[in-house]
Amino acid sequence: LPTHFTLSNGLKLPSIGLGTWQSQPGEVRAAVAHALKSGYRHIDCAHAYGNETEVGQGIKDSGIPRKDIWVTSKLFETHHRPEYVRMALKNTLKELDLEYLDLYLMHWPLAFEPEVKSDGSLPSRNGVKDASGKTKTDVAMSNNHEATWRELEKCVDEGLVKSIGVSNFNIRRLRELLSYARIKPVTDQVELSMTCPQVELVSWLQKNNIVPQAYSPLGGAGAKGTSLQVVGDLAKKHDCTPANVILSWLVGRGCNPLPKSVTDSRITSNQKLINLTKEDVDALTKYSTENPVVRVCDQTEDVTPRFDIFEENHPEHND
Ligand code: A2P
Repeated sequence: LPTHFTLSNGLKLPSIGLGTWQSQPGEVRAAVAHALKSGYRHIDCAHAYGNETEVGQGIKDSGIPRKDIWVTSKLFETHHRPEYVRMALKNTLKELDLEYLDLYLMHWPLAFEPEVKSDGSLPSRNGVKDASGKTKTDVAMSNNHEATWRELEKCVDEGLVKSIGVSNFNIRRLRELLSYARIKPVTDQVELSMTCPQVELVSWLQKNNIVPQAYSPLGGAGAKGTSLQVVGDLAKKHDCTPANVILSWLVGRGCNPLPKSVTDSRITSNQKLINLTKEDVDALTKYSTENPVVRVCDQTEDVTPRFDIFEENHPEHND
């Protein structure tokens, strides 16, 4: 299985990365340091996760040279307005204590109304709330991402980031983006797992030279995918962990899994890729497509991501 995927801009993305969503500030520093020391060269972060300072400390602790590590972060929904994009990226760089990112993603095809500060500084993560306490959507910015994308392109020109991409985009929204993008998105990071196989989206992305990145590849908190019978049977057959089976299946599909863990032994073992036979792959694909659970947002052509579903599933997002 490939150790790297070559992106449309020629850069090489390490085929497994460490996810940091829901890794607590008190534990993520050690997890990142351990991951890098044990062989990872790819860390996936986001401003939304509220732990980038500790991630940056973990990178430093590891002693691995910056140039050998792939670091991704994401533009938060309250920072889509053109005047905030570069400021948000600079803020993430400051927190991570890095000079550049390898990849910066638009985290959602959706914007929140920012709480504008009188001194023009970067709005906080919490957007303006409506009377019922729900974060208000910035409708104009959510329906048209061109102004935001233009700023992201400028950040590439300036050398603040080497590549740009998106997250949680469906095919319709990507088609729109490709119609005006001067610099093409190199990846689309979406929920992608045994219970959320995203068959149509993955095949469309690959035809369009965009690498699918997989968040929650093991099934999210509790790693539900690892307890599936079909996965357990193959783990026994190959004398490996259930996680190894799922992550190898994803890499074999040309997808880039970002398993989250703060447990040293899991972090180490999740890197091991195994060669599944065609029959193994067929059994996993059959299960995943016959039992799909579409969560967080529906990534199909007709349905746009629904943020109300996301908020119901992840109330902590509004903390
Ligand atoms: P922990 O961080 O406590 O080790 P996903 O990447 O799909 O979001 O899954 C993350 C969840 O899976 C976390 O709860 C993480 O727990 C757990 N996890 C990570 N690696 C493994 C593994 N090899 N076996 C079982 N659970 C795992």
